[in-house]
Amino acid sequence: MTESIRRIVLASRPSGAPTPSNFRLEEATMPDLPDGQVLLETIYLSLDPYMRGRMSDAKSYADPIPIGEVMVGATVSRIKQSRHRDWRQGDIVVAYSGWQTHAISDGSDLRRIDPAVAPISTGLGVLGMTGFTAYAGLRNIGRPKPGETVVVAAASGAVGSVVGQIARIQGARAVGIAGGADKCSFVRNELGFDAAIDHHDPDFARLLAEACPDGTDVYFENVGGAVWDAVRPLLNNFARIPLCGMISHYNDGAAGKSTVDRLPASMKVIQQRSITVRGFMNVEFIDQQPAFLEQAAGWIADGRLKYREDIVDGLENAPSAFIGLLEGKNFGKLIVKVSGEQYSRPMPAS
Ligand SMILES: NC(=O)c1ccc[n+]([C@@H]2O[C@H](COP(=O)([O-])OP(=O)(O)OC[C@H]3O[C@@H](n4cnc5c(N)ncnc54)[C@H](OP(=O)(O)O)[C@@H]3O)[C@@H](O)[C@H]2O)c1
Repeated sequence: MTESIRRIVLASRPSGAPTPSNFRLEEATMPDLPDGQVLLETIYLSLDPYMRGRMSDAKSYADPIPIGEVMVGATVSRIKQSRHRDWRQGDIVVAYSGWQTHAISDGSDLRRIDPAVAPISTGLGVLGMTGFTAYAGLRNIGRPKPGETVVVAAASGAVGSVVGQIARIQGARAVGIAGGADKCSFVRNELGFDAAIDHHDPDFARLLAEACPDGTDVYFENVGGAVWDAVRPLLNNFARIPLCGMISHYNDGAAGKSTVDRLPASMKVIQQRSITVRGFMNVEFIDQQPAFLEQAAGWIADGRLKYREDIVDGLENAPSAFIGLLEGKNFGKLIVKVSGEQYSRPMPAS
């Protein structure tokens, strides 16, 4: 029997929030493997906010996904078959296979991961792109000093959870902002932030101000919108803002929700308090990735860096999980389990 592959393609472009009809599950014939290439079997698929931008045809830093093409995304994959001299069957790699069960690669986009270091799913989160984004933004732009206050938006999520923990490792105070009591309790009690404030609370702005009695020296921006409105008055002179993302605006657009004009208030505070706002893409700092991976593996091993993964079972559930990500329904790094994990962490020697 010929094996087939399953994949989710972009069926139509969303207007405002994505809906299930924007995606289509398809089956296709397993492709032949050309010489010099490897066949990858997806174990885990990463779901990330940037995918919303790729579904749109608005001009951006990356090309839009064409209608009918496979949704893009990073994966942890197993090399099922290799016709490439540098890659062996059975290797576990971080790849960019997209929302599908199998893909072919020439090896240039693969990063080998060591299942002995941590569960392989971490290659998409704390030891992957999102963990590195947190490290790079804080190290190169936020640069917290001991005793300073670092406020982190989307603090229970993949990037934010790592930002606050690294800030604390560096001797700063970490104040997280998250949606709901459970997420705030996790941020405060499991991740060890100094405080966590619920942005759904009607008294959010006052509670945040109380949690920052000495103002805010670094604001790690992941969200924008009403969260930025509450942080803005608390910023100290010479505060630094790594502008990582603005997820609360990703579903804005022609037919999306109307937006408030925050430009004058934002420019005023930036100018009058000599604030540095620096947008960034993690790839700018990619030469720092090996140092990050080594340091983060050490922090995980000694218990200073904790992580939470929200693992959804089955490729067919990727669209609803992704729609939920843009509504704050995920709790931790959102990952889809696409096939059985055949390489789990080896048992420690007795
Ligand atoms: N610059 C880069 O290179 C780079 C790389 C990776 C990620 N990013 C950005 O980093 C940010 C976080 O990404 P992530 O992967 O770590 O996702 P995540 O935090 O794991 O998940 C997204 C979280 O955003 C929050 N959220 C969603 N809609 C919101 C809204 N309208 N208002 C307030 N909060 C909202 C929700 O948390 P709550 O329930 O707590 O509100 C949700 O759980 C995103 O903006 C993303 O685009 C940037």
